[in-house]
Amino acid sequence: MPTKIEKDSLTGTDTTGHEWDGLRELNTPLPKWWLYTFYACIAFGVVWMVIYPSLPGWKGTSGWVAREAVVADVAAAQARNAPMMARLREATPAQIIADPELRAFAIAGGRGAFANNCASCHGAGGQGAVGGFPSLADDDWIWGGSLEAIQHTIRHGIRANESDDQRQSIMPRFGADGLLTRAQIDDVAEHVLSLTNRATDQAAATRGAAIYAEQCVACHGDRGEGNREVGAPRLADQVWLYGSSKRDIVAMISNPRAGVMPAWQGRLDPAIVNMLTVYVHSLGGGE
Ligand code: HEC
Ligand code: HEC
Repeated sequence: MPTKIEKDSLTGTDTTGHEWDGLRELNTPLPKWWLYTFYACIAFGVVWMVIYPSLPGWKGTSGWVAREAVVADVAAAQARNAPMMARLREATPAQIIADPELRAFAIAGGRGAFANNCASCHGAGGQGAVGGFPSLADDDWIWGGSLEAIQHTIRHGIRANESDDQRQSIMPRFGADGLLTRAQIDDVAEHVLSLTNRATDQAAATRGAAIYAEQCVACHGDRGEGNREVGAPRLADQVWLYGSSKRDIVAMISNPRAGVMPAWQGRLDPAIVNMLTVYVHSLGGGE
């Protein structure tokens, strides 16, 4: 069918010559500015492909490679930080805290290292997580909140069998190993509740106090104040690793859980361990 191009009588615009049932299609050209921008983009793209490594096997005329550029940037950053890292490696955490410049660098770097290595268990801001991951941002410490104690915990870990100096201690399995009967466990749990004024059965709590004095005082203290030597948490407060309800407490006495944390000495640069120590100490509960 021959195309017949003619002007539309109403708008004065050319038609394309296509016609359906008497309807003719107008030929409205693209705006010039759009068209030339489009051509310019194509030309830019061609030049770009020639200069940079754009196609498999094509290295580009410039010789620039993204991977090499990143490696160079990282090396430059490490070289820039090297003197500071060396100082952080040599200094003790106490010396780092006393020096404002070192301290600021350690806390900034410690925050990053914490996000990479610790936040998965302890939460992004060290707030802890249910199920035995303690908050590091409060002043309730299982093993100790001084710079030395925090550094020791980070270096050697807890019950992970990765260091001879690890934090170690295991609560006996009073139920699972038959050390106490079900009724005795119930009584002593009632006594534990009474330490936070939550006992509902005074007679049971009184019976439980005698069992507590015999079985639990050595680790948890006369009044449930805890003992950092053996990592036994305070029972007379609102902070619980494994839950505060009577059911949780009975479960813990029957078949105790034992939190495990890896040892970071050997995994992390000693400078990073120092930075983490100062960072954790700064979270709010440092002693
Ligand atoms: C795999 C999980 C896990 C990771 C990763 C982890 N921790 Fe822990 N961390 C724990 C657990 C569980 C405990 C408590 C152990 C216990 O019950 O005594 C703990 C305890 C601690 C304590 C002692 C708290 C106290 O009250 O005395 C410190 C300090 C600590 N972690 C710091 C860190 C730092 C810093 C990192 C990162 C380098 C880290 N943790 C990574 C699981 C982890
Ligand atoms: C050998 C020391 C030891 C003895 C004895 C011991 N505990 Fe423990 N207990 C621990 C340790 C260590 C933990 C913490 C475990 C962890 O961090 O994962 C703990 C944790 C607990 C918890 C959980 C606290 C929380 O924050 O969730 C309760 C409850 C508890 N003990 C009660 C008792 C009672 C009751 C007795 C006596 C019948 C007892 N324990 C005897 C060492 C001991």
